[in-house]
Amino acid sequence: MREFPLTLSRFIIQSQASHPGATGEFSNLLTQIGLVGKLISQDLRRAGLINILGATDDTNVQGETVKKLDAIANDDFVKVFQHSGYVCALASEEMEKPISIPDNWPHGKYMLLFDPLDGSSNTDNNMPLGAIFSVLKYERDDRLPTEGELMRRGTEQIAAGYLLYGSSTMLVYTVGQGVYGFTLEPSIGEYLLSHEKIRIPEKGRVYAVNEGNCRKWSEGTKKYVDSLKVNDKATGRPYSSRYSGCLVADVHRLLLGGGIYLYPGEVDKPEGKLRLLYEANPLAFVVEQAGGKASTGTSRVLEVEPKKLHQRVPLLIGSRQDVEQAEMYIQGKD
Ligand code: AHG
Ligand code: MN
Ligand code: MN
Repeated sequence: MREFPLTLSRFIIQSQASHPGATGEFSNLLTQIGLVGKLISQDLRRAGLINILGATDDTNVQGETVKKLDAIANDDFVKVFQHSGYVCALASEEMEKPISIPDNWPHGKYMLLFDPLDGSSNTDNNMPLGAIFSVLKYERDDRLPTEGELMRRGTEQIAAGYLLYGSSTMLVYTVGQGVYGFTLEPSIGEYLLSHEKIRIPEKGRVYAVNEGNCRKWSEGTKKYVDSLKVNDKATGRPYSSRYSGCLVADVHRLLLGGGIYLYPGEVDKPEGKLRLLYEANPLAFVVEQAGGKASTGTSRVLEVEPKKLHQRVPLLIGSRQDVEQAEMYIQGKD
């Protein structure tokens, strides 16, 4: 008899069974993330046919052009979660202010922060895209969270993960007990467990960085990236360069095969580009849970104290040895 595949819903119920006292609310939240993934991947499959490519006339709070698909993906997240009863606040890269769930509407104890569409420069070229999410728990029940209460260190996340819209759609997440990957089986509309307890190699042979920015980098970053191109068989160099323009896709590659992704600070923009609460923290949680590392160059990403909702942070993420090596160069200790 063939083996019965483990669906996301069944996996979640099994994991819940090992947590006596769990209300099921959190399991439902993860299932709803899966639903968002189905909605968006359905749109992406026919994107060139239904007039959803290109940009809107809007600019978001980050000063970036909003693509039609950024707005659609953000709307999908909000529509699925706002009235779900599972969350009390939603914050998105695409929304200046968080959304609080109205007092008179059922709300849950979770706060969801997300990047609804990651890699938006890829929308019009049929290249990979993603979404990233971070889940925090709100302890009070006498009032809804303020904006400040959404700004927590990454160490306080109770779950995080991403959706990857590549040649398959995947949901990869952690609740702090390893990293699990599910692949959407489109013919039955179910996510099936395809990657169990993912472990990132200690060291890789791939680096991902937007090298067009190299003249803007610090000397340490320049020296580090140069060092990866040295011809030295013993240390596996030169590394191969792979950069997709979609952080989720690049990190997914590293998670499975090892290596490093960098979006470093620049001399005139030391904070870098990526957002701490919607991108760096959730991916750092996933990668650490797989045995890897995420650093700003000088400190652990998950320990950065957020000062602003849309705060940016330099990011070096991937295999432990590669990230440690990059830190040495960036700190001038090479
Ligand atoms: P987003 O589409 O959510 O704004 O994120 C884009 C991010 C990330 O996905 C990617 O790795 C990086 O920005 C690409 O930036 P560059 O075009 O500057 O390389
Ligand atoms: Mn992004
Ligand atoms: Mn985005």
